Amino acid sequence: MNSSSSKLFILSTSFLLSISSVTSNSVLDNFLQCLPIHSNTSNPITNSIYVPNNSSFQYLYELRANNLRIISSSTISKPLAIITARHASHVQAAVICAKIHSIQLRIRSGGHDYEGLSYKSDIPFVILDLFNLRSTKINITSETAWVQAGATTGELYYKIAEKSKVHGFPSGVCTTLGIGGHFTGGGYGNMIRKYGL
Ligand SMILES: *[C@@H]1O[C@H](CO)[C@@H](O)[C@H](O)[C@H]1NC(C)=O
Ligand SMILES: *[C@@H]1O[C@H](CO)[C@@H](O)[C@H](O)[C@H]1NC(C)=O
Ligand SMILES: *[C@@H]1O[C@H](CO)[C@@H](O)[C@H](O)[C@H]1NC(C)=O
Ligand SMILES: *[C@@H]1O[C@H](CO)[C@@H](O)[C@H](O)[C@H]1NC(C)=O
Repeated sequence: MNSSSSKLFILSTSFLLSISSVTSNSVLDNFLQCLPIHSNTSNPITNSIYVPNNSSFQYLYELRANNLRIISSSTISKPLAIITARHASHVQAAVICAKIHSIQLRIRSGGHDYEGLSYKSDIPFVILDLFNLRSTKINITSETAWVQAGATTGELYYKIAEKSKVHGFPSGVCTTLGIGGHFTGGGYGNMIRKYGL
């Protein structure tokens, strides 16, 4: 490469970089501004939006991020924001706005995740964190339970045991597993997905 073409190369690279960082900031801003429009005004979503400059952001990010290789890595990118939904409409808003603004959502319920599927990604992403949505309603007469995604299997077992000495629910032994992740196919160990039993 002669010197004039290498200068041209550097110029065009920095031009592209500055364009793409402007784009991703405004995509995030547009996403954040979209959230209140699509959620219930009597349950403001603003209190549930954490960007990296919020003082609790790092704490929240690490709270259920159990894989130290991932959280201590300087090369794995952190989420652009964490939405700690407190109302069903916050979940709806996060999904609708992520779709509109082409932002990847990683969804974390209330439990552990050693693979990091719910808190790491190769592309810019936002975490929808469901740990506040953890109510369980047990009806022993109908032998049914309504459980929100953020509850853990341990909480579900405990709530059933409070109501009955003979009922139970068959799932994992580990009580810190999130119901949302378990019901959607997680909680079977780090290698079973790839190798089976
Ligand atoms: C918003 O939430 C309130 C209280 O939870 C509820 O009464 C109301 O129906 C909701 N509004 C909409 C449009 O869903
Ligand atoms: C996080 O910071 C943003 C901007 O500084 C602010 O609007 C938002 O309310 C903060 N979120 C929380 C949960 O305090
Ligand atoms: C925090 O980030 C938000 C959104 O990116 C921004 O609007 C706000 O000015 C920032 N606050 C501080 C104190 O840096
Ligand atoms: C529990 O289930 C029974 C039988 O289906 C029903 O009649 C009852 O209304 C339910 N209780 C509650 C609190 O939903």
